[in-house]
Amino acid sequence: MGTVVDVYFLPKPIEAEFCVIIDVLRATTSITTALHNGAQCVFPVDNIEAAFKMKENHPDYILAGEEDGLRIPGFDMGNSPYEFLEEMVKDKNVILKTSNGTVAAKMVKCSEVVAASFLNLSAVVSYIKKKGTSKIVCSGTLGKVSLEDCLLAGFIAKNFEPGNDQARIVSGYAKSVKDIYEELLKSSHAKKLLRLGFERDIKFASQIDFTDVVPLMKNRSCFSKGIVGV
Ligand code: MLT
Repeated sequence: MGTVVDVYFLPKPIEAEFCVIIDVLRATTSITTALHNGAQCVFPVDNIEAAFKMKENHPDYILAGEEDGLRIPGFDMGNSPYEFLEEMVKDKNVILKTSNGTVAAKMVKCSEVVAASFLNLSAVVSYIKKKGTSKIVCSGTLGKVSLEDCLLAGFIAKNFEPGNDQARIVSGYAKSVKDIYEELLKSSHAKKLLRLGFERDIKFASQIDFTDVVPLMKNRSCFSKGIVGV
């Protein structure tokens, strides 16, 4: 039998050896970008208090993230991938708090967690092949299923055997899509980002295989450039 993947439309406290999380707009796209640009480690946190606490203990860490799409007062940076530039993040540790993506990263109980985006699609697919199975967890938006995460889940899942109905649904969906950017624009979150002036973030997030960096978090610590060019 080939590699089997299960897809979950929304985050769950999944217990597994390995899982993949997705938040195309924009957390996992930003995590991938930060590591591609030389960040050492990205620590996901699921609330503002925890983010400030970590910053207090590590004043040299960069405090990044968003609430309602916008940079949080007192934070160094927001959650636009354009903020995770080499000159900002190279050799630095980043604390990242976002509304859904980092919440999903903290919620899953997997020993290894990979952050997937269109930017590292092929590298993530190769890594799943190596692992032999995977749970793929979409972050959604505040408890609602989101189109953009299901789309990427489908682009990953269509390379494997579907282990559950959600994997079948998203694989079929991905096979029907010709233009990722145009498809992303249909999502509610893209519409919100457009209203906030982040159109270029959506365009950026729609690029396939911009990098071969696979952000890997072991034992629920932080995402680092665990794997390159798998
Ligand atoms: C999230 O975690 O919900 C997002 O990454 C929100 C965003 O920054 O657009």
